[in-house]
Amino acid sequence: MRIDIALNGLQTKELTFSYQVFAEEEDNSMQMKKMTALDHVDLFIEEGSFVAILGHNGSGKSTLSKQFNALLAPDSGDVWVYGNNTKEEGQLWKIRQSVGMIFQNPDNQIIGNLVEEDVAFGAENLGLPTEEIISRTRESLAAVNMSEYATHSPNRLSGGQKQRVAIAGILAMRPRCIIFDESTAMLDPMGRKEVLEIIKELNQKEKITVIMITHYMEEALEAGHILVMDKGKIVLEGKPEEIFAQQDYLYEIGLHVPQSVELADELRKRGMDIPLSVLNLEDLLKEIPSL
Ligand SMILES: Nc1ncnc2c1ncn2[C@@H]1O[C@H](COP(=O)(O)OP(=O)(O)OP(=O)(O)O)[C@@H](O)[C@H]1O
Ligand SMILES: [Mg+2]
Repeated sequence: MRIDIALNGLQTKELTFSYQVFAEEEDNSMQMKKMTALDHVDLFIEEGSFVAILGHNGSGKSTLSKQFNALLAPDSGDVWVYGNNTKEEGQLWKIRQSVGMIFQNPDNQIIGNLVEEDVAFGAENLGLPTEEIISRTRESLAAVNMSEYATHSPNRLSGGQKQRVAIAGILAMRPRCIIFDESTAMLDPMGRKEVLEIIKELNQKEKITVIMITHYMEEALEAGHILVMDKGKIVLEGKPEEIFAQQDYLYEIGLHVPQSVELADELRKRGMDIPLSVLNLEDLLKEIPSL
């Protein structure tokens, strides 16, 4: 079988991965066991897209994202990042440079004493000339609206500001894709909004491919495409309106739909003619002029 490997995106073919865990047997002995976290995953994420990954706890979202950044390698099957197979040792540097990751806890991602030092760190590791590092640091801070904090200590910033600094650090390495693994989960509503705005801008203005793992269904409405995972498999894939039309199935696998979608559904049941394309609260309010 010949597989066409796309150069313009992230691709997996029958990607399967297990963790080795120590588990107690019925006879109370401890045995090494395989815990399947990814089960024959086939997908393609096109360059420039904004994809949200949804799924109940333990469904395999973080494990999948670590495969794209080559932090983990498949047990069987393949992962290609812009045409480079993550199994090939020689490609790791290139892959990690092209796919940046932002995690949940902003405090674990800050290392510099000054914001600008922190942002420059990754670019310095690429061995770039000093002038290049300085200009990239400046540009990256501007892209996340943090220029005025360049010489501040990161410790005093809000959670949302710290996440934006972490994003700037990744941007300075000029990745083609950034994976946000629940990057808004520890933030207050204000911080969450700030970070989500930046994520949208990076995709729209800088044309960076965004993969956003989230437990907030409202955030997923911002994506162009949604992947839903359950027990290590991709079980649904489509546009937000296609995914959130499947309320019953989503409930079955431990997910829900955004409140605005629930409300629109309730209004339809009461006889109001609301198009299925209406998903967020803003659009819903436009449909109900009397409100
Ligand atoms: N380091 C590890 N060692 C052993 N098992 C692990 C490890 N990391 C994850 N797992 C297991 O692999 C499965 C997938 O985990 P993963 O973290 O990818 O899920 P997730 O969808 O990101 O969950 P969450 O929403 O809680 O972050 C789970 O059953 C989890 O318990
Ligand atoms: Mg996770």
